[in-house]
Amino acid sequence: MKKLVIRHSPPLSGEILISGSKNAALPILAGCLLCEDTIRLSNLPHLTDVRVICEILRSLGCVITRENKGTLLLDASSITRFAAPYGLAGKMRASFLIMGPMLARFGKIRLSLPGGCPIGSRPVNLHLKGFAALGAEISQGHGYVELSAPHLTGTRLYLDFPSVGATENILMASVLADGVTVIENAAAEPEIVDLASFLCSMGAQITGAGTDTIRIQGVPLLHGTDYAIIPDRIEAGSFMIAAAMTQGDVTLRGVICDHLKPVTAKLRESGVQVTDSDDSVRVRAAQTRRPLDIKTLPFPGFPTDLQAQMMALLSVTKGTSIITETIFENRFMHAAELARMGADIKIEGRTAIVEGQNTLTGSEVCATDLRAGASLVLAGLTAKGCTTVTGVHHIERGYENLDLKLRMLGADVEFSEIP
Ligand code: EPZ
Repeated sequence: MKKLVIRHSPPLSGEILISGSKNAALPILAGCLLCEDTIRLSNLPHLTDVRVICEILRSLGCVITRENKGTLLLDASSITRFAAPYGLAGKMRASFLIMGPMLARFGKIRLSLPGGCPIGSRPVNLHLKGFAALGAEISQGHGYVELSAPHLTGTRLYLDFPSVGATENILMASVLADGVTVIENAAAEPEIVDLASFLCSMGAQITGAGTDTIRIQGVPLLHGTDYAIIPDRIEAGSFMIAAAMTQGDVTLRGVICDHLKPVTAKLRESGVQVTDSDDSVRVRAAQTRRPLDIKTLPFPGFPTDLQAQMMALLSVTKGTSIITETIFENRFMHAAELARMGADIKIEGRTAIVEGQNTLTGSEVCATDLRAGASLVLAGLTAKGCTTVTGVHHIERGYENLDLKLRMLGADVEFSEIP
């Protein structure tokens, strides 16, 4: 078992390159199941979640070879199995993203229902509602869900909530369906746009990605492609917040500034200097920061995946800040760990009231989920003394070389083994 040891660090300064997006890579890797030609994917991040979905694809018969550090060649020409092993699929909710492509290309797939996770129950009812609307037969039992459909027929469907995963799964299920599918109240996250762009490069006919209405004209066949994943806006946002927290001056390279608008706007509102340029963003400390009101919303609202990191920043921003989490029902577990470090946070349902302190004190804390872990690392950078974060396997799911990148910016951070 490993832990991250973080000591009070000087203001972060310098520049780093942002990695490819985890939340774009996972659906796009699943989308490789949609055709029998070889697909080349580049700018893939080295993350646990990417490795897990590749293991799942291999278990179905997909041949995956590494061309270089961030580039994979995927060949799904000989898929021979139509059920992923429970032990694999159960590791990660995003394994459910293979349902849409497998249903579209083969008309059958059996998979264990993804469990809940610390941040919420995370049902898949909207995914299944979409598959049924396209004509799939759905059977559930013993923790598994099985889909079958001799063929899928395009339809108009409305998502009760703009679910990212449901939009992605239904999008992938509909690209080979007969006729037109219209997804209303669709998610508009950049990762949806990247998936649609990837599918169009394979010959899919999709318009409206990035809006709340996506239109798909089914086609008989898709072909191979060579595609680069977009940069990770949540990794970038996490480093922007780290720069602000440590009173630093940091430049992030390889970003898409439009994807960072919500966090840029809130940091500027707090007094932090944020300067955009083509593919980079520079964050410079404010003399004093103002408290903020944050409400997480579907894109282009403030992303729930940066809520925990923002709570760490506001814990050391004088004044009273209010955070409202509207996406997940249990995404404040990092508050208790931040409180161990001296943060003053009161939770009332989906609202957190944060009284900013001058500083936090280093403690032993535990990451309960991916973004909570990032929040604790950020808090450790500014806390007096030494902070150790356990549960780092959560962090390694979504941050490539987090310790290395932080050290490049002057932070005192290292992994160490727990005896
Ligand atoms: C994606 O999860 C991301 N994961 C999450 O990032 C992110 O927090 C989330 O979108 C919201 O932006 C990946 O892309 C791999 P949702 P997803 O379906 O698709 C409810 C991270 O830290 N819902 O948009 O699972 C659900 O319970 C992760 O990188 C239903 O009720 O999110 C939740 O309350 C964490 N029924 C809300 O919608 C459904 O069928 C948003 O979920 C599906 C979802």
